[in-house]
Amino acid sequence: MKQNKQESLISLIQEAYSLIERHPEFEEQYNRIVSNSKSPEELVGKLESLINEYHNNNKKSKVYLSPVDLYNTDEISKLKEFRRNFLEEIIKFNPKLKQEPSQYELSNSETLLYELDSLDEFFESYFIVKEIKSNDKIKKDITGYLLCNQDQENQIELAEIYVSPEFRREGIAKSAVKEAINLYTKLGYNLIALVHKGNKNPQRLLIDLGFEKRSEVDSCLIEFVYDKNLRKI
Ligand SMILES: CC(C)(COP(=O)(O)OP(=O)(O)OC[C@H]1O[C@@H](n2cnc3c(N)ncnc32)[C@H](O)[C@@H]1OP(=O)(O)O)[C@@H](O)C(=O)NCCC(=O)NCCS
Repeated sequence: MKQNKQESLISLIQEAYSLIERHPEFEEQYNRIVSNSKSPEELVGKLESLINEYHNNNKKSKVYLSPVDLYNTDEISKLKEFRRNFLEEIIKFNPKLKQEPSQYELSNSETLLYELDSLDEFFESYFIVKEIKSNDKIKKDITGYLLCNQDQENQIELAEIYVSPEFRREGIAKSAVKEAINLYTKLGYNLIALVHKGNKNPQRLLIDLGFEKRSEVDSCLIEFVYDKNLRKI
């Protein structure tokens, strides 16, 4: 096998492994292709079409916000599970949480994470749904959640956003925030988001979508503002 073919096989295998990491269901197809290919050239061809098919399907996917039904126990437990995962990730950016983790359990109402019972009073909570149509079938995945909080008369705070690790880097959070911007600016609101200083990924995302970095709220949070009069996306 020539060196450049070998290199393309290696990079395809690496790409396939990174897909498997994010989507374990991909592994079965990958193993089938590897064991059925009779030559490295055949393997390259089959891997290329599998990965292309995956990317094409992804491009066809639609991402939307679906309000969480807080009277539905299945939806509440899904949201709780997501929020627990969110807290586990966010804790590393928050020195206060690191120091006193026991105070911040989900069951404690005076926590950074608000009691679920009061969610419908203060927050609009949404699941972030990814929908893919293939061969006339529709596959819907609940990939994460977004909590929005009306913290002032004309302002909505994007309070929490979370996407499950297996769905990350596919533009899902970006589409969800875009939808929230469209929804709330049409209703006349500006948007804000408070992000931990060390949490760089959401900061990039907000800037890309037209938010402006305004101020540091305390030693660890930065405020981002989307002013409907200044920006259009
Ligand atoms: C932050 C988070 C919601 C992003 O979700 P996501 O669906 O992977 O984000 P997207 O794919 O829409 O990424 C949009 C942009 O954000 C930035 N970004 C997101 N993840 C990134 C990463 N791992 N490395 C570098 N940039 C990243 C990039 O600018 C990216 O645009 P690009 O892919 O065109 O470069 C997700 O990583 C998460 O749930 N993190 C844990 C919870 C959290 O930190 N929430 C935010 C604080 S409230």
